[in-house]
Amino acid sequence: MTEAAVLTGLGAYLPPRRVTNEELADRFDTTDEWITTRTGIRTRRWVDPGVCTGDLAVEAGHRALKSANIAADHTGIDALVLATTTPDHPCPGTAPDVAARLGLGSVAAFDISAVCSGFVYALETAANSILAGRSRKVLVIGAETYSTILDPTDRSTSVIFGDGAGAVVLRTGRADEPGAIAGFDLGSDGSQRELISIPAGGSRQRSAGTVPTEAEQYFTMHGRKVFVSAVQHMAASSRTLLDRVGWPVGTLNHLVGHQANIRILRAVAEHLGVPAERTVVNLDQVGNTSAASIPLALADAAAHGALSPGDRLLLTAFGGGLTWGSVAITWPGITPA
Ligand code: UT7
Repeated sequence: MTEAAVLTGLGAYLPPRRVTNEELADRFDTTDEWITTRTGIRTRRWVDPGVCTGDLAVEAGHRALKSANIAADHTGIDALVLATTTPDHPCPGTAPDVAARLGLGSVAAFDISAVCSGFVYALETAANSILAGRSRKVLVIGAETYSTILDPTDRSTSVIFGDGAGAVVLRTGRADEPGAIAGFDLGSDGSQRELISIPAGGSRQRSAGTVPTEAEQYFTMHGRKVFVSAVQHMAASSRTLLDRVGWPVGTLNHLVGHQANIRILRAVAEHLGVPAERTVVNLDQVGNTSAASIPLALADAAAHGALSPGDRLLLTAFGGGLTWGSVAITWPGITPA
């Protein structure tokens, strides 16, 4: 019997175009100093015109399959779960197209919409499919092109978000082997849905028959309220999960928080009592990449040799919805591609 879903491959892809704080300071009423001190972000990647979320997802997916030593014909994957806020189209989902482009055959393929918590939600869905005996290997991708939904007149969101994709492969395995997922915690609060949204383009606006303003077609965020909620929920979810899986906080080797803002990451670590040096940070290089954030942070930490087999990792995320979620997992000692 399968005891656990186990991490067996990790891939990351960033589009080549680097957008620095200085470049944004030429376009918006902002400065490198404001962005660096208020967010910790120094640069981010944005796609070139014509490149969509599915394109990034295919690149990251390829790399995760390679990292997992999946055969070149990509047989053996039973499902693809894709987390994104920026699908290629409102309909259909992006996952079936990505599955076809990756040559996965006629696997189950669907999108998860949980904004910046999307990767954690997708991981839980994939792990459940494995634990239920429905799948033996599942590809999970978080991919975003926020640059396509940012309001070009809004400096507060335009300086934060970046594009990118990260992917993992989960397989059946044992609970005591490195890479095993020990548990999840997920939650939501839809009464706060207006804190992060694209107001127009869905059935609520279309059914009302209103003509949306240009701003309503873009991503909006009440930054300060989101900041406070993000700290509260990531800390509370992390604590709940650590209790559930019986990991004392002192045994955690790495806190891998959603890379939203360095001040949020520091505050969550402080609330939990995790030393700053155990907090994984790569937002200075990539900004907030929403559903791609956690796998990109993991890939970056692994590439820098920061993760050792058996290390205890707590992944925690927060995003629009509101949604939040955490994952307790040990590091499998794989090589990301
Ligand atoms: O990924 C999902 C979760 N997302 C997050 O967790 C993001 C959470 N929020 C944040 O990270 C922060 O709230 C922001 C980085 C978005 C904003 O930082 P803040 O310290 O909360 O600033 P604020 O929104 O309270 O604004 C403070 C001031 C305002 O000016 P006044 O009203 O005090 O004169 C803003 O207009 O900073 C101004 N401001 C800027 N100034 C220069 C906002 N954006 C900028 C900017 N450059 N880019």
